[in-house]
Amino acid sequence: MTVLVTGGAGYIGSHTCVALVESGYDVVVVDNLSNSDVTMVESVVELSDHSIGFYEVDICDEKALESVFKEQSSQGCPIEAVVHFAALKSVSESFEKPKLYHANNVGGTEALIKVMKSNGVEKLVFSSSCTVYGQPEEMPVDESAPFLLAESPYGETKQKCEKMISKSGLTAAILRYFNPIGAHSSAKIGELPIGVPNNLIPFLCQVVAGLRPELIVFGDDYPTEDGSCIRDYLHVCDLADAHVAALENHSKSIRAYNLGTGKGTSVLEVIASFENATGEKVPFKLGPRREGDIISIWANPSRAQAELKWTAKRTIKEALGDAWRWQKELVSK
Ligand code: NAD
Ligand code: UFG
Repeated sequence: MTVLVTGGAGYIGSHTCVALVESGYDVVVVDNLSNSDVTMVESVVELSDHSIGFYEVDICDEKALESVFKEQSSQGCPIEAVVHFAALKSVSESFEKPKLYHANNVGGTEALIKVMKSNGVEKLVFSSSCTVYGQPEEMPVDESAPFLLAESPYGETKQKCEKMISKSGLTAAILRYFNPIGAHSSAKIGELPIGVPNNLIPFLCQVVAGLRPELIVFGDDYPTEDGSCIRDYLHVCDLADAHVAALENHSKSIRAYNLGTGKGTSVLEVIASFENATGEKVPFKLGPRREGDIISIWANPSRAQAELKWTAKRTIKEALGDAWRWQKELVSK
């Protein structure tokens, strides 16, 4: 079965391509390389020892997308399912460029749905985010929690895409990721942050690698045990496996699934765990809160466990060790 992976040259997409190939799927990637490099696709091929198709195409370009579906059919490898990662993902940038985020993320998803339908492709796995919940009232958060006012234009695009997919008539698994971290244990693929990373782990790794002076912990006066924010960090390879599980076990028309470990970890605990996993010291200082950060969130992943037969298996220590190995690989390149 041939699966189209939009955004497959990106961080989560590349790891998912490996998991899909390892599970016996044929993979075709569509990516406009706006936040990635084609070498990541080459590394996926090397890692999985299997060829994958690559089209440098913007999913907002309906005509170009249509020709990918037609080309695949004419080659005798018609696309039968889509795993849809392609989106812009920077929360801070989305405040500066809300229209671009809307056009790319919502417009791109709209175009994809149209082309899927006109080609009779019904199965979709969509990358959503726990950001759709805002700061939930009850923890751990399950899928019945309401959408609160989006914390950012980026979050709003995920809410809009979910609503659009719900009305599309497709068979769709909506995967709400918590905080993916780490890299493939081979250190051949990982996150490629362009510019100054916004996210905790790539920033922390760059600090330890000596590329930045220190990590600022955004806020130590939150109402949590140590005063820093709490998130549910899961290994990107566990997340990748969840997409395979969704393709294989999701049968309902539309269903949302939380993907997390079910365990919350504070920023200060992440630093301690990184030091423990790698033996490296993390230079950091406590700083002011970052605007728009929610205090704490972690998943109730029991629906994914029961229905997708998926559970996060790797530890945070393993994820941090793999993130560090990838960072060292990047520095050596
Ligand atoms: P990423 O930026 O590494 O990957 C996204 C890929 O999509 C990139 O390769 C980019 O070039 C491509 N892309 C963007 N717009 C495109 C377009 N119009 N046409 C074709 N390709 C396009 O990001 P990621 O971390 O791998 O995230 C993948 C998905 O998961 C995104 O939808 C993101 O919103 C979602 N998500 C990510 C996180 C996270 O923390 N990384 C958390 C929750 C949800
Ligand atoms: N943090 C710091 N210092 C830094 C960077 C982050 O203390 O330099 C803290 C943040 O305040 C937060 C935690 O580390 O408490 C995690 O921050 P990230 O930026 O790594 O992740 P977020 O939870 O803020 O957001 C991420 C993605 C969003 C996505 C959300 C939910 O960036 O796209 O997870 O999936 F919507």
